[in-house]
Amino acid sequence: MYYGARIPSILTRVITMNDDIFSKYLKTESVFKDQSSLNQAWVPSNKQKLICRDEELAKLILLHRPIIATRGGYSTNTLVLGKGGIGKTITVRYFGRRFREAVLKEELKITIEYYDCLQYRTKSSILRNISEKLHYSAGHGYSDNEILEQILKELIKRKESLLIILDEAHKLPPEDILALLNASIGFGEKNTRFCIICISRESDWFKVDNEKISSRMQDKISMKPYGKEKSMDILRYRRNLAFRDGILEDDVVDLIADIVVEQENMRTGVDIMRACGIHADENLISYVDAEMVLQSRESISPSFRADILDNLKIHEQLTLWAVASALKHSGDPYTKVEESFEYYEMICEELGYKAHVQMSFRKYIRNLADVKAIHKEYLNPTSEKKGRQIQVKLIDIPAEKVCEYFEKAIPNRN
Ligand SMILES: Nc1ncnc2c1ncn2[C@@H]1O[C@H](COP(=O)(O)OP(=O)(O)OP(=O)(O)O)[C@@H](O)[C@H]1O
Ligand SMILES: [Mg+2]
Repeated sequence: MYYGARIPSILTRVITMNDDIFSKYLKTESVFKDQSSLNQAWVPSNKQKLICRDEELAKLILLHRPIIATRGGYSTNTLVLGKGGIGKTITVRYFGRRFREAVLKEELKITIEYYDCLQYRTKSSILRNISEKLHYSAGHGYSDNEILEQILKELIKRKESLLIILDEAHKLPPEDILALLNASIGFGEKNTRFCIICISRESDWFKVDNEKISSRMQDKISMKPYGKEKSMDILRYRRNLAFRDGILEDDVVDLIADIVVEQENMRTGVDIMRACGIHADENLISYVDAEMVLQSRESISPSFRADILDNLKIHEQLTLWAVASALKHSGDPYTKVEESFEYYEMICEELGYKAHVQMSFRKYIRNLADVKAIHKEYLNPTSEKKGRQIQVKLIDIPAEKVCEYFEKAIPNRN
């Protein structure tokens, strides 16, 4: 009797409380018309367009047009270079999508595949994926070379062309890049139907580039950061797609454009817009103003890609978390590798992961520095400590945020 009377009243209270939240946030209108158009992976649909990259698009079209003219028997390798956040990925992906449609209209067969080499880190994983995409199984026990040969033969047999986009191509070992480029060129064989577009930042590409690789790149497209006018045009276009009318006025867009030009990075601008919109929705405000832009600018990091965290292998994630924890606890800007290794062991134990040895940990630190999640530098040897010591710090993102992120993202296995 007693419980019978109590439970319904508790339930009613919980439901009423939740009702408040639901009606508060679901019944008020969002500032966004299409929030997803501000996602990192957004590529303009057929009804939308890619503006301010006409020159680069024209070049890509001209370089690949012979695929149509030769009815598919054509191959070429192209390198797209430029700083971070200036539209390399979006331009090439958009080209890929539209070019595919154009080729199909000519009743030719083409497969265009995009690979982010942060995820696909070897030629082997790419080749296996291609053979799956071409819908025949390479089967186990075949070497990379055999799979490659099968793919090339299959393309000729089917009269089909293949264009692969290797984004962040510097993440592949140089010998893997070379092997793929060689296959595309076909060692002078006729009828190769395999084209490659590599994308990379200049500052990363030089680490893998060598004479052999560059001699196999037929063309290079160097992309430059956007100036003020183009930045305004792009941001206005993105605003119109993402926000309802009147939410984000031109003078606020102008301020965001200044930040984009200063940082030479369009990603910052798009991320600021998104962060401001979410902030406005959370606070039930129906506009975005300059103050919000300046505040969100603080928390947005120009060179950091959130998806980098997700693409890390589990022990790299644990390593990054350990570095962040060490920094959070000491409050210092830098931490030594030995120190963060202790945190790594503690975190592993707490979550039920088997900690790897310090040498592997150092390798993870190097990988994290490669993807620019951390910055590492060498200290000069002292009289007590012989040999070169390494100290690391986080780039752009506060230690607390990294810890918060991984606390949610990494499952506890205990
Ligand atoms: N011309 C454009 N029109 C609309 N949005 C753009 C344009 N150029 C860039 N952007 C936006 O700017 C952001 C960065 O672009 P993108 O990811 O293509 O840069 P990137 O050069 O590949 O950078 P990274 O080297 O860091 O990978 C994305 O959110 C993208 O949508
Ligand atoms: Mg990119």
